[in-house]
Amino acid sequence: MGSLTVRNLGEDIKKRLRLRAAANGRSMEEEVRLLLAERAAETATEAKPRAKQSTKPEPPVRETATRRVLLIISGGIAAYKSLDLIRRLRERGIAVRVVMTRAAQEFVTPLSVGAIAGERAFTDLFDQASELDVGHIRLARNTDLIVVAPATADLMAKMANGHADELATAVLLATDKKILLAPAMNPRMWANKATQRNLETLVGDGVITVGPNAGEMAESGEAGVGRMAEPLEIVAAVEKLLESSDARAAQNGPLAGKRFVITAGPTHEPIDPVRYIANRSSGKQGYAIARAAVEAGAAVTLVSGPVGLPDPPGMKTVRVENARAMLRAVEAALPADVGIFAAAVADWRTAGDAVQKLKKDASGPPKLELIENPDILATVSKRKTKRPKLVIGFAAETEKVIEHAKAKRKRKGSDWIVANDVSAEGGAMGGDDNAVHLVTAAGVESWPSQSKDAVARQLVARVAQALNGKAT
Ligand SMILES: Cc1cc2nc3c(=O)[nH]c(=O)nc-3n(C[C@H](O)[C@H](O)[C@H](O)COP(=O)(O)O)c2cc1C
Repeated sequence: MGSLTVRNLGEDIKKRLRLRAAANGRSMEEEVRLLLAERAAETATEAKPRAKQSTKPEPPVRETATRRVLLIISGGIAAYKSLDLIRRLRERGIAVRVVMTRAAQEFVTPLSVGAIAGERAFTDLFDQASELDVGHIRLARNTDLIVVAPATADLMAKMANGHADELATAVLLATDKKILLAPAMNPRMWANKATQRNLETLVGDGVITVGPNAGEMAESGEAGVGRMAEPLEIVAAVEKLLESSDARAAQNGPLAGKRFVITAGPTHEPIDPVRYIANRSSGKQGYAIARAAVEAGAAVTLVSGPVGLPDPPGMKTVRVENARAMLRAVEAALPADVGIFAAAVADWRTAGDAVQKLKKDASGPPKLELIENPDILATVSKRKTKRPKLVIGFAAETEKVIEHAKAKRKRKGSDWIVANDVSAEGGAMGGDDNAVHLVTAAGVESWPSQSKDAVARQLVARVAQALNGKAT
């Protein structure tokens, strides 16, 4: 669906879409999918009349803990079981992206694989659209784990010898992720010295295997060791590997064992069923901090307002719409060692939530009465119980940035304020770079303009120092 849509667009729109996708760190297809999903959600809201006299309906809160698996299907008779494997993984909240070898497409079609995976299967190394769109290097890296199921004797031989002659082998050679192999082949092929030699090489290279099992082969009258492990066995191996990679990060990083709650993005405060008050926050800085904290070993709950960014891997993401829901989600995530409040929470919301869409009529524009939203930073900073040891707020200022940030730190009772200039010249809102000042009790540190990822890593390193008593 995504690729069809992209192909049919005019060149100008394609170019704008490519730029937007690149700016958001997504593929063009992902961008199209998100745009379509957003539009569908809006249409659904517009179409659905609200129940009269409803008290303000709460927008849904969606929680996910996204893990990504890249499944490579090679050309064995057991390829049909991969369809069930995809379904089982997705049932467990694991996102599955699929690459198929040429031979695999003789056994199952990319169409059925794509339908079950929820996105098209990738098949061709030299397909210009997919190379521009995602590319084999991104396929190889943007995942938590690579699973090859079924793994044919041929693919194992190519892997053992470092071939990169088609998309699947190129991805396997380019990856820095763990690889789980589920071999499946005729028992004689499995027992063959060449296959066993290749297996030994692969295991020596750190590849992990599940199966093959002993039993009846698909070919009539054949039995022995060579049956692909059952989908649920493969799922169990996947879950174990995903957990152990989290555990490894958590054990080794400077923030091992620390719990973080981080907010990101804007909030949408409803005016009526179709309109809302919002701001230009993209969520990029908060998401970058959450990723950096996970990389440093922290257990992170990311509470996100409505943004177009995918759920980052390795953490719990709670999606909310408005300030009140954000505060509830933050409080539910306590106790935490560190709270970082990077979301641009709307200060005000409308006093009444119109049940029906406000109509343009002769009486002129409606008067919107605004009331204050809960102050998440101040509420958490001033908690008597379960206050995080370190509470960090963000200040978005358009003038007198440091002065206002110092005042904000005192007023809200937070430990630190990260102040950024969000004036049009500052370009922090929605952009990829940020120049921030860290305001603490000890003074002000002005950091150079750098990418939001670099700001995130520097902030997380500074938090680790503070928690380990090496800085204030
Ligand atoms: C009907 C049929 C079934 C096959 N089943 C298997 C199999 O289960 N395991 C295997 O290693 N090869 C099997 N092969 C051979 C592979 O399809 C062949 O080696 C192919 O080149 C593998 O390509 P790939 O590794 O790039 O997917 C089968 C071939 C056919 C015609």
